[in-house]
Amino acid sequence: MKKSILILGATSDIGKALAKRYAAEGWGIFLAGRDRDQLDRLASDIKIRYNVPADAHYFDALAYDSHKDFWKNLQDLPSVTVSVFGYLGEQETAEEDWEMCQRILDTNYTAAVSILNLVSNSYLERGQGVIIGISSVAGDRGRSSNYLYGSSKAAFTAYLSGLRARMFAKNVHVMTVKPGFVMTKMTAGMDLPPLLTAKPGAVANVIFKAMKKKKNVIYVEGKWRWIMLIIKLIPETIFKRLKF
Ligand SMILES: NC(=O)c1ccc[n+]([C@@H]2O[C@H](COP(=O)([O-])OP(=O)(O)OC[C@H]3O[C@@H](n4cnc5c(N)ncnc54)[C@H](OP(=O)(O)O)[C@@H]3O)[C@@H](O)[C@H]2O)c1
Repeated sequence: MKKSILILGATSDIGKALAKRYAAEGWGIFLAGRDRDQLDRLASDIKIRYNVPADAHYFDALAYDSHKDFWKNLQDLPSVTVSVFGYLGEQETAEEDWEMCQRILDTNYTAAVSILNLVSNSYLERGQGVIIGISSVAGDRGRSSNYLYGSSKAAFTAYLSGLRARMFAKNVHVMTVKPGFVMTKMTAGMDLPPLLTAKPGAVANVIFKAMKKKKNVIYVEGKWRWIMLIIKLIPETIFKRLKF
């Protein structure tokens, strides 16, 4: 079987970097997202640069009813599917505004579950496949400044953990990716600490290598594992007084 990857949320900066990284290794690329023009341009660029098959597919993560047809209409079953789409929103606004709050929860969790349920059942039937979910260190513990986004990623992390256990005996591998800060559209304008901030290309590289090693859960930069361990160990009586 030819190697191919479906990137759900391919206009994201991490998604674009993944597309280039996998194409450079000779993989066929399915780009899925809402912005067809941008995806078409990316597909042409990949075909020319890397001489691999690449095509664009319209995919709206929040249009749950369309997911079955979207998946059915892909010409071939991709060997790997990565769920990259996400929505950060604004914590303070979302505390008051249910519409934004729901969009955070639905994009990062419900939408991912809707499409990955279909993908995983197909992979189960075929007896092979790899699913990669881009979650976040924000899901490791709810902080006052971003617990709405964080809780949606925590739910996604738990989903991927259960899915991995269900798929394990059936030759379907599920990898959870927990990036820390990454320099992308999502974090544009934020004052991020340079030493703790990765570039999308580096994230894609870590993901590609970890997938080859069949890792289960990865922190994109190793130091985040230790940072989050410390954060998780802070007793609740102290944690609730911290403003971060
Ligand atoms: N950047 C960070 O510091 C960081 C840290 C940890 C985890 N992450 C996670 O990494 C993933 C990639 O994010 P990024 O940093 O690369 O940010 P990004 O460039 O802002 O990408 C977010 C992507 O999600 C897509 N998206 C949002 N809602 C969608 C929907 N309803 N249907 C289809 N696509 C939708 C957007 O598509 P449009 O182009 O159509 O808007 C955009 O391409 C996300 O899951 C994010 O939560 C990022």
